[in-house]
Amino acid sequence: MAFVTNTELLAKAEKEGYAAGAFNTNNLEITLSIVEAAVAERSPVIIAVSPGAMEYAGVAYLAAIAKVASESVDIPVSLHLDHGTSMEHVEACIEHGFSSVMIDGSKLPYEENVSLTRQVVELGRKKGVSVEGELGRLVGVEDSVSVSEREASMTDPTQAAEFVERTGVDALAVAIGNVHGWYKGRPDLDFDRLREIKSKVGTFLVLHGASGIPDDMIREACSIGVDKINIDTEVRDAFRQAVARFVSENPDVIDPRKILMPARDAMREVVARKMRLFGSAGKT
Ligand code: G3H
Ligand code: 13P
Ligand code: ZN
Repeated sequence: MAFVTNTELLAKAEKEGYAAGAFNTNNLEITLSIVEAAVAERSPVIIAVSPGAMEYAGVAYLAAIAKVASESVDIPVSLHLDHGTSMEHVEACIEHGFSSVMIDGSKLPYEENVSLTRQVVELGRKKGVSVEGELGRLVGVEDSVSVSEREASMTDPTQAAEFVERTGVDALAVAIGNVHGWYKGRPDLDFDRLREIKSKVGTFLVLHGASGIPDDMIREACSIGVDKINIDTEVRDAFRQAVARFVSENPDVIDPRKILMPARDAMREVVARKMRLFGSAGKT
């Protein structure tokens, strides 16, 4: 199938009460694992490409790989720019056939975030591409922040409603105590804040930094109404562990295909498990 937009994928997720997974790719092997898991689980899926991935592999290669994967299967696949920070990122992705983009102005002053996000939405509307924005900052797991700094970095529900109104974004990434990378101990997510955001904001909600969030908390986020959940670190970890184990157990094997196959299997299993957890399995 040709790529579908995030809006199309998330409208069904919102209506049927599950979340779609967005999984980051950087190469052929990760993309294959993501799409194979989606096929095995009969799940819609979002393939996410960050500016770092674009720098590593080239947006043309990543888009071409995802396109072949999507056209070879009969499940809905979206190709999405993750954490784009400039019009250049957005334009490059649209030019290469992405169906969705994220513009992350969360580190900018509020008015600049509104203005950049609105520009991307205007372009997205012209090109038929969905747009995700972000309000509130994900504090790094290594950052030592005081309670008041943590509060201040989180998405303000009233401001979120205004942000969505003024920008017209299709989806909003929220900061409720979630972080990128591994958590130290059990995550401290502010579900009351998420409920308030949900009640005030009439657009799809996105939870970034979902690796390492325990299953019960993910279920709660889905039941409150999160529509899209981003996973990267757990897939990276599965890759690293599988390669490390294979190389240590088979020191004489030099064939990259033999080294990478266990990693593909391990990544596919992580993605499939998340699809079952998010409730998107069996939804196509
Ligand atoms: O949230 C960001 C993703 O994990 C992508 O990470 O910027 O290292 O490609 P990256
Ligand atoms: P994790 O690496 O913490 O899973 O976060 C992924 C993410 O938010 C990608 O945008
Ligand atoms: Zn993210």
